[in-house]
Amino acid sequence: MKRGLVFLLPLVFIALPALRYGVLRTELVAQESKAPLESAAVISAVDVKAQVPQVKGGYVGRDVCRECHAENYDLHGMHGHAHTFALASDDKVASKFAGRDFDYGDPYGRYEYEQDEDGLSVRISGESEGSFPLQYALGSGHHAITLLSLAKDAEKGTVAYEHRGSWFRDRDRLGRTPGQPLTVPESESERFGMKHVGNVMQKCIYCHTTTGTVVEQKIVGLTANVNCEKCHGPGAEHVRQAKAMKEPPPFSVGSDKWDSESEIQLCGDCHRLPEAITLKELREYPDKLARFQPVGLLRSQCFIESKGALRCTTCHNPHRTISDVSESEHTASCIKCHQPQKSSHITCPVSTTEGCIKCHMPKYDFESLGTGFHDHWIRVHPED
Ligand code: HEC
Ligand code: HEC
Ligand code: HEC
Ligand code: HEC
Ligand code: HEC
Ligand code: HEC
Ligand code: HEC
Repeated sequence: MKRGLVFLLPLVFIALPALRYGVLRTELVAQESKAPLESAAVISAVDVKAQVPQVKGGYVGRDVCRECHAENYDLHGMHGHAHTFALASDDKVASKFAGRDFDYGDPYGRYEYEQDEDGLSVRISGESEGSFPLQYALGSGHHAITLLSLAKDAEKGTVAYEHRGSWFRDRDRLGRTPGQPLTVPESESERFGMKHVGNVMQKCIYCHTTTGTVVEQKIVGLTANVNCEKCHGPGAEHVRQAKAMKEPPPFSVGSDKWDSESEIQLCGDCHRLPEAITLKELREYPDKLARFQPVGLLRSQCFIESKGALRCTTCHNPHRTISDVSESEHTASCIKCHQPQKSSHITCPVSTTEGCIKCHMPKYDFESLGTGFHDHWIRVHPED
């Protein structure tokens, strides 16, 4: 898991006065230039609904799709995909942190959060030095919100600090950000966040946005959230054709070669494919792999033996939030194949009408993430 990179070096705590956060604050882009924040503020302040298309390369923005695909537009607006990236200064984010505090423990200290005209920031209780600015918020808050700041690093160029404190929906609490080892921080900045560089930093933005690349402490070409065009590709040509003729030629957007595999590749790009997992984990399949649905599904007899008939969208409308789907709808997806009338499929000797998910796709709680995941390796579990 890339977010869990471990610092293996014996770390030394260097408290150079020049690195105190007072200096750091001005080092961050947020303080140097308002420009990148303002363009992003357009997106998050009024939520995705008023998102202004600002990316070239054939992208038009999700609001343009609304005209002809209102239903998918409205559904997507309620999905976590549509809310998974914002500015930390956005009220919806800042209100969950500002005025609160939380003790991370030694050698970090107690974090205190504050929102002022410069945005959201954090300081360490009892230390009078300046505060550390918090720029971006990842996660819709359906379960959690984690904060991220970009900064200049003498050696590595641009780096991202993933703040050590996150907000969790369960019990509306602040707590430790998951996947961060309790090591001695190497610098003052690392007291506030775990440092990410290069690919890991870029991927963190990639999975939570439609477009955007980190260049010199800014996110260039930012369109927040996982929107229509992240999955379907740039829509300009499709929209042009749809407006020019009554029936646009099929697949002027997206691909006509859409199959089970390409769909698992699409969702797995972010929900993780086997390539993101170590070989040992793949072999042993520990419970924590339940978090990575494509990995489990690929092992399921349902997938292997149905020869392309089973894909993510057999059970999930990709536009509709899962919190909106009832258990009986899920059971109905199983019964589409496993029904006594269809002799081509085996049926369950225990139940052919209900309870399939609890027995064959049990949920594992991930306490540190404040949520749980259903094991997509669909099978008979020994305890059943
Ligand atoms: C660009 C990355 C990306 C792609 C591609 C992607 N997802 Fe997601 N998905 C996410 C992120 C990030 C979240 C967490 C959203 C949040 O903050 O709540 C998520 C959350 C979800 C959720 C739970 C949240 C909800 O409201 O239901 C479901 C279900 C889901 N994705 C299904 C899919 C399916 C099915 C596909 C393929 C058709 C897919 N995703 C493709 C990134 C992606
Ligand atoms: C490979 C793609 C990928 C990368 C890289 C990634 N995420 Fe995510 N993130 C997801 C997906 C998919 C989900 C939804 C389910 C899950 O937790 O696996 C998610 C969920 C989350 C959530 C919980 C949202 C909610 O309310 O349910 C937070 C917070 C989050 N990510 C923060 C981060 C941060 C911070 C980074 C970078 C340091 C990061 N993610 C990197 C794909 C990614
Ligand atoms: C997470 C990826 C993802 C996102 C985000 C997404 N779609 Fe889709 N969409 C899909 C997939 C996969 C299919 C194919 C589903 C199927 O075959 O059942 C699809 C099918 C469609 C279709 C054709 C079938 C139908 O449901 O009418 C339309 C139109 C469409 N999407 C429009 C949109 C619009 C508009 C948005 C944004 C508001 C959007 N999509 C966002 C993945 C996505
Ligand atoms: C001016 C109307 C119009 C606009 C705007 C529009 N579409 Fe479509 N779209 C259509 C029509 C008409 C079809 C074909 C019939 C259908 O599937 O609804 C279609 C079909 C699709 C399909 C199914 C695959 C295909 O090409 O047959 C997808 C996916 C899709 N649109 C996505 C989008 C996305 C994403 C946007 C926004 C970037 C968008 N559309 C904007 C009219 C439009
Ligand atoms: C697209 C069709 C399809 C769907 C949908 C489907 N399955 Fe299956 N499933 C299969 C096939 C094919 C097999 C292999 C045996 C057979 O031929 O029936 C199988 C096998 C199984 C097995 C035996 C696994 C093993 O390792 O021996 C279980 C348990 C199972 N399915 C449960 C479910 C449940 C629960 C759901 C809903 C969450 C579901 N299936 C949805 C097609 C499907
Ligand atoms: C056979 C049906 C089935 C298929 C196929 C399937 N899912 Fe699911 N998925 C479910 C069920 C059932 C749940 C649990 C729903 C609930 O919350 O009660 C779920 C939950 C999820 C969640 C929410 C987090 C969790 O694990 O509980 C995500 C994200 C998700 N699926 C992604 C995917 C992706 C990506 C694919 C394709 C690789 C996929 N699913 C294929 C049935 C399926
Ligand atoms: C209370 C737990 C439970 C529930 C509920 C349940 N199953 Fe099962 N299922 C089992 C067990 C245990 C077995 C293995 C039985 C055996 O091998 O004698 C099994 C076996 C199966 C098999 C494989 C049968 C074979 O011949 O190998 C399929 C397919 C299946 N279940 C599908 C389903 C579906 C679909 C549902 C929902 C309609 C469902 N199950 C509900 C516990 C359950």
